Amino acid sequence: MAARSFSPLDASAMTANILDGNAIASARRLDIQAAVKQRAERGERPPGIAAILIGDDPASAIYVRGKERDCKEVGFKADFRHHPAEITEQQLLAEIDELNQDDSIDGILVQLPLPAHIDDDNVIDRIDPRKDVDGFHPYNIGRLALRRPTLRSCTPKGIMTLLESTGVPIRGLDAVVVGASNHVGRPMGLELLLAGCTVTTAHKFSRFTAGHIRQADIVVSAVGKPGLIRGDWIKPGSIVIDVGITRDAGGKLRGDIEFEVARERAGWITPVPGGVGPMTRVSILESTLAVANGEIG
Ligand code: GUN
Repeated sequence: MAARSFSPLDASAMTANILDGNAIASARRLDIQAAVKQRAERGERPPGIAAILIGDDPASAIYVRGKERDCKEVGFKADFRHHPAEITEQQLLAEIDELNQDDSIDGILVQLPLPAHIDDDNVIDRIDPRKDVDGFHPYNIGRLALRRPTLRSCTPKGIMTLLESTGVPIRGLDAVVVGASNHVGRPMGLELLLAGCTVTTAHKFSRFTAGHIRQADIVVSAVGKPGLIRGDWIKPGSIVIDVGITRDAGGKLRGDIEFEVARERAGWITPVPGGVGPMTRVSILESTLAVANGEIG
């Protein structure tokens, strides 16, 4: 019996193609901006995003500022709110109720992590699933699991766009997702399964993560531990996606994957920063436009 099935990946490439999330997201923002102009010409209001930031986590503040900048660039209404860490869960839920009813708002984002006294699940559950442009609501994850996706989880959606940009047909490929979080790892596995990949999810209890990765045509790592994935584990010619983003002691942003070694083996690889992050943000804009256009049931 043949040891391995046919793989369309070219194992002879020397240095990986860089999957430039900044460039791809920037081109897609231009398309979104054009769609917003067309809506205006038809007399339709701009799509609207409401975002809620709680507390003073510097990384969250940077992410939210980026989302606000994106909204301005494409011509969306941006209703961004910042509350002190002491806000109660009841107050936050009441604000979500109000945004759920607001007809000028198509997408609602609550930046995570939340302070410990607020239950993330209660907050996510309260967002109207038809405005859940992060794609975190159990309804939207359930729809993806049942092969009837509606609003898709933003980071996996952005990664699927990056995979499409390679031009490689991924149906039948072996994919390994490292990390089983609710917001990235789990929906990522569901997206890859929907696309016809054979999916393995490795997580903190997995015993043979390196062995799985050595055989993978696609690796997606979403853990947040710099250097977790050794470059010499990467299968030649494979597609390598790094969702991890951690600031090291020197202030430099680092992914999970040993980039300099991995790039000499992979066919395609995302940089950190500038790979997955911009794609997550543009996915949120795309989903919000789809809601405004009445494309989400
Ligand atoms: N915190 C880190 N990433 C995200 C994200 O994509 N959405 C939200 N709401 N919070 C986050």
